[in-house]
Amino acid sequence: DNDTMTKLVALCKRRGIIFQSSEMYGGINGFWDYGPSGVPLRRAVEQLWWRYMVEERDNVEGLDSTIICHPEVWRASGHLAQFSDSMTDCLECKKRYRVDQLENPGVCPNCGSTKMTEPREFNLMMKTFVGPVFDEEHAAWLRAETCQPIFVDFNTVRIATRQKLPFGIAQTGKAFRNEINPRFFTFRSREFMQMEMEFFCRDEDSMQWFDYWHKERWNFYTKVLGIPENKLRIHWHDKLAHYAKAALDIEFEFPFGWGEIEGVHHRGTWDMSRHCEFSKQEKDCKYYDQDTKDSFFPTVVETSCGLDRICLMLLCNGYDEDKADTQKEGMDEDVRVVLRLPAKVAPVQIAVLPLSKKLDESASALFRNLRKQYRANYDDSGSIGKRYRRQDEIGTPFCVTVDFDTANDQAVTVRDRDTMTQERIAIAALPAYLQSKIYP
Ligand code: GAP
Repeated sequence: DNDTMTKLVALCKRRGIIFQSSEMYGGINGFWDYGPSGVPLRRAVEQLWWRYMVEERDNVEGLDSTIICHPEVWRASGHLAQFSDSMTDCLECKKRYRVDQLENPGVCPNCGSTKMTEPREFNLMMKTFVGPVFDEEHAAWLRAETCQPIFVDFNTVRIATRQKLPFGIAQTGKAFRNEINPRFFTFRSREFMQMEMEFFCRDEDSMQWFDYWHKERWNFYTKVLGIPENKLRIHWHDKLAHYAKAALDIEFEFPFGWGEIEGVHHRGTWDMSRHCEFSKQEKDCKYYDQDTKDSFFPTVVETSCGLDRICLMLLCNGYDEDKADTQKEGMDEDVRVVLRLPAKVAPVQIAVLPLSKKLDESASALFRNLRKQYRANYDDSGSIGKRYRRQDEIGTPFCVTVDFDTANDQAVTVRDRDTMTQERIAIAALPAYLQSKIYP
């Protein structure tokens, strides 16, 4: 529901997770900044993806290409001719819509007017110029997806790594789309992060690989990120591109409805054959099989997800208000806001809270030690109840409290975000205890 989104957007700003870009100038629609508590979350998710997709596999290689490519790349990919949305304007209230988002095309959902312009095509690529002359000859585009440079670099990566089919190339990075209607917080932005992997294989094996990556990607969300299965679903495409054998989206149930997180797409030999046609570099686009001595365009199975959408999914999934016994922690109000994020992606994994400033010395020694291994935070200001609440709001799974007994029993109190229970743990046993909880 909208109420949850409104609360989540407010929380993200209040706690420095995500907020509007250029806010002092009124913001810029479709652009978002990640603050001190948003950066660690997004980086942690990106690292988990990279580890799962690249570092733990022998048959996937990494790439980090430029955002601006040779303009021919986007002609070959079809983006310059076809990457467009149909849009229409209301002549009365001046609102602009994507035609496919209108329930009743021709009628303005805002003011009810029927004075709408004829639909017109609008290309989503963001344009810029390379070099000092701003003319068409020097026009270039910011990449609208991270996968095209993967196709272009296919042969260079293959030679450098001595990979044989089947193998994949992965990259994460910014993509840009001039979306007509950015909306639902970061869900549809104009500048966003993609994480894509293109898997090159023989056509006859491609459906087997499609099934494999479908399952692997489902596991990533359910096992690695801990998203409950009942909040995820697969949407199979029934209209396929002419070159594709199968396509599906993985969707999450957001407060505003089901939304796509990732696409797993069979792309046939479309990309490699188009780049061959436009670049005329056949040897870079085809694969030569040394055993059979034949050369052919590899078939591609793609997994493509949006990092910002995954972060939004984690935030929506984690957002909670509970009526826990807050009085126990010295607070009056009976509703607390808590972000139940998995400990491995939480912006702060451990907060060290000395009960009194007099305990700063021993508490900060413990903090310095913990921060070597974890994202840790030190907070000695305000009542302990208020400090717990602040940590709850950014999803800190564990608060470690140093009190006046610590000097005697060499132990601290560990408070669990979700259950609010407290446990006395010996300082010597703390690293093993936290490790088992944060990276089970
Ligand atoms: N290479 C294929 C490709 O780009 P896509 O379905 O257009 O496919 C893949 O995009 C993923 O990128 C989506 O599932 C979504 O997670 C993310 N994405 C796409 N457009 C986005 C936008 N405007 N804002 C945020 N994320 C977006």
